[in-house]
Amino acid sequence: MKKILVTGALGQIGSELTEQLRSTYGEDNIIASDIRRPENPSGIFEEIDVTKEKEIYEISKKYKVDTIIHLAALLSAKAEAFPKVAWEINMGGLVNALEAAKQLDLKFFTPSSIGAFGPSTPKDNTPQDTLQRPTTMYGVNKVAGELLCDYYFSRFGVDTRGVRFPGLISYVTAPGGGTTDYAVEVYYEAIRKGTYTSYIAQGTHMDMMYMPDALNAIIQLMEADPDRLKHRNAFNITAMSAAPEHFAASICKQIPDFEMDYQVDPVRQGIAESWPDSINADAAKEEWGFEAAYDIDSMTIDMLKKIREKLKKNSA
Ligand code: SER
Repeated sequence: MKKILVTGALGQIGSELTEQLRSTYGEDNIIASDIRRPENPSGIFEEIDVTKEKEIYEISKKYKVDTIIHLAALLSAKAEAFPKVAWEINMGGLVNALEAAKQLDLKFFTPSSIGAFGPSTPKDNTPQDTLQRPTTMYGVNKVAGELLCDYYFSRFGVDTRGVRFPGLISYVTAPGGGTTDYAVEVYYEAIRKGTYTSYIAQGTHMDMMYMPDALNAIIQLMEADPDRLKHRNAFNITAMSAAPEHFAASICKQIPDFEMDYQVDPVRQGIAESWPDSINADAAKEEWGFEAAYDIDSMTIDMLKKIREKLKKNSA
């Protein structure tokens, strides 16, 4: 990767990935894009509506990029609220991005998700290759996306790669519209109020990961030797399998008075229950050396520290 276009660069992953790519590959080599221009973009920025057929192609050509990292998408709960819009953005955007990669011979990354699994998938130690019959629009989009990326590789030779991300936790940009968002909210509320009401029920396990591990995974996979890759577009990766009470216990080690209670949201609970409890990441480890650095307690220490600094700075 030398010159990279990032779509959805203002989103949860994109806002941090763009900065990391800029410091690794150079300011002038990263083209951030999103549907709207921020007030003060920090580097090269282009407005792209991924649903418009030619916009990704035109900007990729203009800057002579060699890689597209396609992140523009709706998350699971939002996609359930607006299924048709999700189809248009998640699938329409993806095929437009893949077409640009095909026509300009670009490397390509897009994330899949634990949402690509469904109720009939084995729940524990979920294998890399297994039953995928998701029951959400987001899941339908993700499975179709995995297959579409495989198709563009096998049919047209596009160097497509991807991972199935678990719930991603970060202090920089809020996720907005996902099922795993509680695992971010809980840290803010722990600092602001000392309590948190979880919309996910006690005992509901999902895979999670701290954002620095997710960013490293993207870069590591994109730089991996293609000869070692038996899979391409849907590597299971995870750092921890956790339920709300595990976040509460981890936070209590730092904020002993912290308390969590529950008011379950049936929609997001239903989505969570349709996903695995813990996925198996052996293929990613074997084929490109994936490894997560953060567990729940080291993540909690860092999240609390960084959110405190952020809130202090914002109130100054
Ligand atoms: N974090 C995502 C969501 O909850 C899962 O891919 O939608």
